[in-house]
Amino acid sequence: MSSTLNDLLATLDNPAKLHAAMVHLPIAVAFLAPLFLLAAGVLPGRRRMGSFLAVIAYALLAIATLVTIQSGESAYDAIGDVPAAVGTMAHDHGELAERVWTWGLVGAVIAALGLLKEKKKVAIAGVWAGFAFGLFTAGWTAIAAHQGGVLVYEHGVGTPNPVLAQDAGTPDTPADPRAVHFVDHVFPILEDRCMGCHRAGRAESGLDLTSMDAILRGADHGPVLKPGYPEASMMMTVIRGNHPEIDRMPKGKRGPLTDEQTEAIRLWIEQGAVWVD
Ligand code: HEC
Repeated sequence: MSSTLNDLLATLDNPAKLHAAMVHLPIAVAFLAPLFLLAAGVLPGRRRMGSFLAVIAYALLAIATLVTIQSGESAYDAIGDVPAAVGTMAHDHGELAERVWTWGLVGAVIAALGLLKEKKKVAIAGVWAGFAFGLFTAGWTAIAAHQGGVLVYEHGVGTPNPVLAQDAGTPDTPADPRAVHFVDHVFPILEDRCMGCHRAGRAESGLDLTSMDAILRGADHGPVLKPGYPEASMMMTVIRGNHPEIDRMPKGKRGPLTDEQTEAIRLWIEQGAVWVD
């Protein structure tokens, strides 16, 4: 079997990937429906043809959304433990997406008015109402899809668990975005701004920040990192300078981290604090 076919079969087997592949169909048809109705409204003699294509696009939208929701639900069931905020976001994403199939059906009925031969005024009103409704539906679909994208690309939902995978990917296996984020944006900060004082040879306050095992052992004041929960992690509290007893980190003349660096570390912890050696 060719490797492309193997890849395809692997995709069908993985609800998260299937969902990611499926989701482009509703987005495409949601944008086509109002375009067809616009054509029906402005092109002389093309009203019924444009309306007909729009009915098909809306019907496809309803069907494609149903299939996409199915794969999305399986993907959601498969994500396992995530921080509560991410779970809520996935839930909201599902609620938004579920509406899209109703919008597809309603749109198909409105666009069907444009097919009327006798009642011309009703037909023209149907075309423009269907067009306006199409803009609304396309916007709604785009927002639901964007939210799904944020879940995958910013929160790592649906991508393989890197704590188990522990590698940053090779050219033929797409890198896990969380591992890439650690290697490109988090490790350099820890190395440059923290490890000078927090490593095996010189562990200020009993804290060694040079490996995940060492970090999870904690320090004099207890645990420093709770993967998935930046707001409950002492590391974030000291980086922001909010700890009642501990100085703001990094200590020393170079001053605190920038907002950007602080956010990079916060996001890393929120996504599960993946460590790649
Ligand atoms: C110049 C040395 C220095 C640097 C650089 C530094 N620290 Fe510290 N760190 C200390 C010292 C000293 C303490 C002891 C507590 C204090 O001084 O308030 C400490 C304490 C801590 C603690 C509290 C541990 C405990 O339980 O007592 C944490 C967490 C911490 N540092 C994290 C970091 C992080 C994260 C960075 C990099 C962003 C960093 N530190 C950079 C010197 C440093």
